[in-house]
Amino acid sequence: MGKVEIRQPTSRFFFPWPVVLVSCVDENGKPNIITVGASSICSSNPPTVGVAIGTAQYSLGLIKRTRDFGVNLPTQELLWQADFCGSQSGRNINKFEAAGLTVQQPKIIESPLIAECPVSMECKLIHAISLGNHEWLIGEIVAVHCDEAILDQRGELDTSKVHPVFSYWAEYWSVGQRLKDWHFSRTEPKP
Ligand SMILES: Cc1cc2nc3c(=O)[nH]c(=O)nc-3n(C[C@H](O)[C@H](O)[C@H](O)COP(=O)(O)O)c2cc1C
Repeated sequence: MGKVEIRQPTSRFFFPWPVVLVSCVDENGKPNIITVGASSICSSNPPTVGVAIGTAQYSLGLIKRTRDFGVNLPTQELLWQADFCGSQSGRNINKFEAAGLTVQQPKIIESPLIAECPVSMECKLIHAISLGNHEWLIGEIVAVHCDEAILDQRGELDTSKVHPVFSYWAEYWSVGQRLKDWHFSRTEPKP
């Protein structure tokens, strides 16, 4: 079987989409959360991440006002809360209260963090790139808060203890089996 060309060019075939919870706050101090699948690490020095926020999303204006946001990594145990924050608008409700999530006070930025997520990053907005119906918001990570329970004795991340959530098309997926370490091809021949 060969490849066929998909009639309409689309970004949807790209896989997978790491699901993150982006936290922000309005001018009255009401916190909000938007579930984002279009997310990526961008650079390691300075450490940056990017999230694509739809131009019609309530959260976009909040983030542009404070010029910062939280990136919180949900686990499979938080799947319901992640789906909820991607199904309701913070225009009408307080998603922290409605989803039973707890505000964690940030150290540097104004946007709140989510206590239940094992990893939360404080990000300062350094670029907003307009791309049609979404803006790519690039944030410089200025602080990272990590649950000790997913660290090993040396303080490094123990990946076997993390249960991340990915999205692909309109489905949620978990990570499959661990395959290899990076650069294994330097020592192992091509099969
Ligand atoms: C799994 C999932 C992934 C999503 N990814 C994005 C995304 O990458 N960008 C975006 O703007 N909205 C995305 N959404 C939709 C928003 O989370 C949703 O419209 C949300 O209600 C907007 O919240 P707000 O109105 O409080 O800003 C996603 C929703 C789900 C369930």
